[in-house]
Amino acid sequence: MSEPSAQSRPISTYKSWQIHRFDQIDSTSSWIKSNQENLSDYSVAVAEFQTAGRGRLGRQWVAPKGTALMFSMLLRPNWPIDKASWLMMIAGLAAAETLSELGKTDIQLKWPNDIVIMKSNQMYKMGGILSEAITEDGILTGAIIGIGININMTDDQLPQDANTAPCSLRSITGKRFDLNSILPVILDRFDSYYQTAAVGESPQKHWEKKLVTLGQPVTATVIGSKDQATKIDGIAVGVDEWARLLIKTKEGKIEPVTAGDVTLRTS
Ligand code: BTN
Repeated sequence: MSEPSAQSRPISTYKSWQIHRFDQIDSTSSWIKSNQENLSDYSVAVAEFQTAGRGRLGRQWVAPKGTALMFSMLLRPNWPIDKASWLMMIAGLAAAETLSELGKTDIQLKWPNDIVIMKSNQMYKMGGILSEAITEDGILTGAIIGIGININMTDDQLPQDANTAPCSLRSITGKRFDLNSILPVILDRFDSYYQTAAVGESPQKHWEKKLVTLGQPVTATVIGSKDQATKIDGIAVGVDEWARLLIKTKEGKIEPVTAGDVTLRTS
């Protein structure tokens, strides 16, 4: 549950989006989850600071006040449930393309949805996406897509406990950015891909071009239905329409990976 006391500033509107701004909140995604009954399609919660920011796989998301763009969107697609992965792809594309433009360099995605940059053969994480589905009778009645991007952090403000070395848009460009002006650009891009997906076109072809993971030797840690983890080693040879990573094992078998985490192997 989200903090009941969290008060948004007056709601603003940007095109179809209703934007709820917070100086401080536990988590924008938790706030949307707790308030979903009263929120319309295309609601956004954005915060300067989160006291309990959530990452994938139960991890924390931490950023000093005002240094990261942290927001969550509520969409009500009413799509079949297996299309939930399309939203995750669309969010990754919208963020990576916007950041590539701002940073004037190729910002990519590490499967499934880490926002990364490669520098001298080393990967640095700039942000991530947390997608949560709301379902009813096999229909995706809602999706909460939370995006966190390290924008203005100096090197000493970057989270130190990250699994991948962290970076920020500032650390790669040397410049500070206005967080408020980045949000509408991502929302526009997201909406453009979302409209295309709503008429049946998968974002897969665009998404796979941004994936740093493809063609690489990887180890996937796959989380099973009972939360048990198994590892698959092989070469990431592609993704399918549902964003599953296709790993070719040394026995030549193609293993589709739906959920979990992937590390790129250097040997
Ligand atoms: C990850 O890389 O594990 C995903 C991180 C997602 C963080 C964002 S910040 C805005 C939104 N609110 C949250 O609590 N989490 C997401």
